[in-house]
Amino acid sequence: MGKFAFLSLALLSVQALVARAEDAAANPDKPVLDDAANAVPQVNVDVSTTFPDSEVFGVKLVNGLPTTAQVKIANNEPDPITVNIIGGSLWTLSEPSQNVHNLTVSRYGVEIDAKSEKTITYNFVTELLPQDLSLNLATMVAKKDGLIFTMPAYNGTVSVVEPEMSIFDPQV
Ligand SMILES: *[C@@H]1O[C@H](CO)[C@@H](O)[C@H](O)[C@H]1NC(C)=O
Ligand SMILES: *[C@@H]1O[C@H](CO)[C@@H](O)[C@H](O)[C@H]1NC(C)=O
Repeated sequence: MGKFAFLSLALLSVQALVARAEDAAANPDKPVLDDAANAVPQVNVDVSTTFPDSEVFGVKLVNGLPTTAQVKIANNEPDPITVNIIGGSLWTLSEPSQNVHNLTVSRYGVEIDAKSEKTITYNFVTELLPQDLSLNLATMVAKKDGLIFTMPAYNGTVSVVEPEMSIFDPQV
């Protein structure tokens, strides 16, 4: 779970759960929708990420240039969900894995209807020493009842590279 620490808002979801449980305990007469005290809340959502600019040999993060991630979120819930934020972090491949960098967190507030999907574009820029790293992306989605869930969106090896000079050659 440490890999998702960059999503400091994750604290909010924990707080929301605790508040809800305390609320239920303090107000025993208040109807509790589900077996909240025992059941671990879940959200039925499929998240997958692709990198449209990446080559067959893998995902490259080019220093100083934006990397585009397309995060596809399929909402299998009977109600709409809201995609709040997408963020990520970079880790060394060696064990124990070290947190090298946290990516900028983007806020969205995009609603996805029940039983439908949306693809959200997440852009980030890095300036790091060329090396292979593990990229972790995650998204936080809220259910209709306000409960927030952190969903892994990507976990894979990426290569940090310097831009090729040709990228800066003016085409004039
Ligand atoms: C990434 O974010 C986490 C949580 O906020 C923090 O503990 C960690 O030091 C950050 N990593 C870097 C490399 O700044
Ligand atoms: C990411 O994938 C690696 C290799 O498959 C695995 O060892 C690691 O636990 C995964 N990390 C997360 C946060 O899922």
